[in-house]
Amino acid sequence: MEQPSARQIALAALRLWRREKRFADAITSQLLARADLTLSDRSFVLELFYGVLRNLTLLDFWIGCLRGSRVESNVRDILRLGLYQLFLLNTPEHAAVHETVALAPQKQHPIVNGVLRAATRQRSELLVQADAQPLFVRTSHPQFLLERWQQHFGAEHAEELCKWNNRPAAIYARINRINIDPEIFLQRYPDSRRLPGNPDFVEFDTLPATALELGHCYIQDPSTVIASQLLDPKPGERILDACAAPGGKTGLLAQLMQNRGTIIACDRDSERLQVLKDNVARLGAPIVHALRHDWTHDRLPKEIFSIGLFDKALVDAPCANTGVMRRRIDVRWRLRPEDFCRMPNEQFSITRATVQLLKPGGVLVYSTCSLESEENEEVVRRLLAELPGLRLESERVSLPFRDGFDGAFAAKLVRSA
Ligand SMILES: C[S@@+](CC[C@H](N)C(=O)[O-])C[C@H]1O[C@@H](n2cnc3c(N)ncnc32)[C@H](O)[C@@H]1O
Repeated sequence: MEQPSARQIALAALRLWRREKRFADAITSQLLARADLTLSDRSFVLELFYGVLRNLTLLDFWIGCLRGSRVESNVRDILRLGLYQLFLLNTPEHAAVHETVALAPQKQHPIVNGVLRAATRQRSELLVQADAQPLFVRTSHPQFLLERWQQHFGAEHAEELCKWNNRPAAIYARINRINIDPEIFLQRYPDSRRLPGNPDFVEFDTLPATALELGHCYIQDPSTVIASQLLDPKPGERILDACAAPGGKTGLLAQLMQNRGTIIACDRDSERLQVLKDNVARLGAPIVHALRHDWTHDRLPKEIFSIGLFDKALVDAPCANTGVMRRRIDVRWRLRPEDFCRMPNEQFSITRATVQLLKPGGVLVYSTCSLESEENEEVVRRLLAELPGLRLESERVSLPFRDGFDGAFAAKLVRSA
């Protein structure tokens, strides 16, 4: 049987994403696992699929300019792919048009061919028209999200943020000092570049498969260390990592503790917890004990009781992910205004459930990868107001347009002695 091409897989991914509303990353993992593609074809699938998701409103704007009448969804997906290649990927015209038309069933060839040929003829006018569109069209962001950022950060920063979200993310990795010394790492992986100001972080041009396999590094953005640094775990301590999977921060906590002490790493999602177990095994962190637990529904498991009270707890809460939208491309299309009311309640409930497990004088770090004050400062205010005996010691924020890394928030709270 003939293997599907990169373009066919990208189209299948777009259709699955639209019809089944599944996470984009889950769709690409599933489709690529089955496909027999070269490395460059795999990258091409990802470029096409994520490129279209990043530019959805803009591509639909051009489709609207080129075809006044209604466009059926399956044809629209094909046109989105074609226009993305023509205008944003600068694929040679012949290949973009010819290969995209071939994706359509025979009876739709005339529409796809007609629209893409018209697009090549009207290229300069269409690009000028796009430049004159409002920001939410030019950068393909939901209007409600853009408006809240404009209100919160001002027009200039909101625009920078949208543009940041549309640039492919750099590949950053944290060197895992448990398994390798940073100097040796740099010699062994000469294609890695150290990040100025973040000596334990390196940048790669492509995923460093061997280094990951050997647990020499972990793919992570430098902004993720803020929470672990604020927690400041020491060797020998008992640490609760309440929302731990897939274990990026857990691995760093173990390193900071020099692998001495105990980390109880909980998560409600069994599949993600399995990924955490695999990750911490590769990173060489036997002090981590993974435990499936839902803080908002389940009774406390006996393993937690038997530990006694914790010295410190990290609550890296589920959130709207608005700080990591350049990595989680489809997040912008999943979010709804009501999420900013629902998520803070969940974040508060999870954190409240962990506070009682802290010893007097114990430290709790609450963190998110959200840029929204409802999920950050306001959750902390509510914790302070409703849970007497907690004191705020410090807060740290990473903003993409200010700091050049993903968005993140962390607050350090201390339970009174
Ligand atoms: C932001 S992620 C954690 C990322 C992780 N700390 C890391 O650094 O790799 C949030 C996690 O919280 C988990 N989660 C969400 N609601 C939960 C709940 N009620 N109880 C326990 N875990 C929960 C999710 O399954 C998800 O894995």
